[in-house]
Amino acid sequence: MRNVVEVSHPLVRHKVTLLRDARTDTRDFRALCSEIAGMLAYEATRGLELERVDVTTPLETAPGWTISGKKVGVVPILRAGVGMLDGVLAMVPVARVGFLGMYRDEDTLQPVSYYQKLPGELAEREILLLDPMLATGGSAAHAVQACKDGGARSVALLSIIAAPEGIAALHDAHPDVAIYVAAVDRQLNERGYILPGLGDAGDRIWGTR
Ligand code: PRP
Ligand code: URA
Repeated sequence: MRNVVEVSHPLVRHKVTLLRDARTDTRDFRALCSEIAGMLAYEATRGLELERVDVTTPLETAPGWTISGKKVGVVPILRAGVGMLDGVLAMVPVARVGFLGMYRDEDTLQPVSYYQKLPGELAEREILLLDPMLATGGSAAHAVQACKDGGARSVALLSIIAAPEGIAALHDAHPDVAIYVAAVDRQLNERGYILPGLGDAGDRIWGTR
């Protein structure tokens, strides 16, 4: 699949399996989301530009590198995306953070926006959009559009589980957006849930319902 990176590292596969397990409790679920998100961020930031610098060790001067070029902006989609934020910030602590509040109407499956606060200088940033579930793709496509409307020119989506339908929909709407995902599942059910999936990510992260 073009522009899709399925991160198949053994640690990711192991943690995704624990995440799917219906017996995994809220505390472990939240920790796993964060850990997997960190590994997705590691892959998604592979292309960041570096600049040569010297560093003084306690013994002598050593050649080194510092990140240059575009800065990173991290934008979790509320609520479930917030469960990925810590893990991504552990990898990129200087990133600026914005938020997009959105939920999926249970009848129409269309995204409904209720909050938006994006970082400044969007055009100068690599935006990492966070949402553990890419189901129909409606929420992700809407969130990418919000970032682009704010000036963003480079957006990648980090999701833990994606349905083929969601990947196709996001590609149709935004072919330039790379998707970093821990697992691509089989299909959606009639209520728009990913199969086999992990259930409702927001509820499992925050212990609701
Ligand atoms: C979930 C998920 C995505 C969306 C995916 O959020 O976190 O944002 O559904 O579905 P889609 O690809 O079909 O748009 P939900 O609407 O359950 O909101 P929540 O995070 O507040 O629970
Ligand atoms: N949102 C979720 O949390 N889970 C799904 O399977 C689909 C959308």
